[in-house]
Amino acid sequence: MIGRLNHVAIAVRDLSKASAVYRETLGATVSAPIAQPDHGVTVVFVELPNTKIELLEPLGEGSPIAKFLEKNVDGGMHHVCYEVDDIIAARDRLKQGGARVLGDGNPRIGAHGKPVLFLHPKDFAGTLVELEQV
Ligand code: CO
Repeated sequence: MIGRLNHVAIAVRDLSKASAVYRETLGATVSAPIAQPDHGVTVVFVELPNTKIELLEPLGEGSPIAKFLEKNVDGGMHHVCYEVDDIIAARDRLKQGGARVLGDGNPRIGAHGKPVLFLHPKDFAGTLVELEQV
């Protein structure tokens, strides 16, 4: 059902510091920061040959990653995003198997302008999973 790894998202406290680690220490291509107020984050995209890393810094009140950074003070891996062809079919199959879909269960438009859903980490080996329809 799941296809390619679309991205790995890493929550960080200091986006410019984390960008410098990826750009200078690791020698990767790193985008300029992009504010996404609808999603409560500022994002930097690290382009790798086979996938992307997204560095997420909280933006504004009630950022969805604020709690995560309270528990993980140095930052850390926040979620992985897998591509699916049909997000509704994927959701229905997962729900039938007992998996929990976060929010109201309906896909919303994600950071890349495509429909996304998030799945409960307790059902997926302790990892928050994002599905993106491509
Ligand atoms: Co994501």
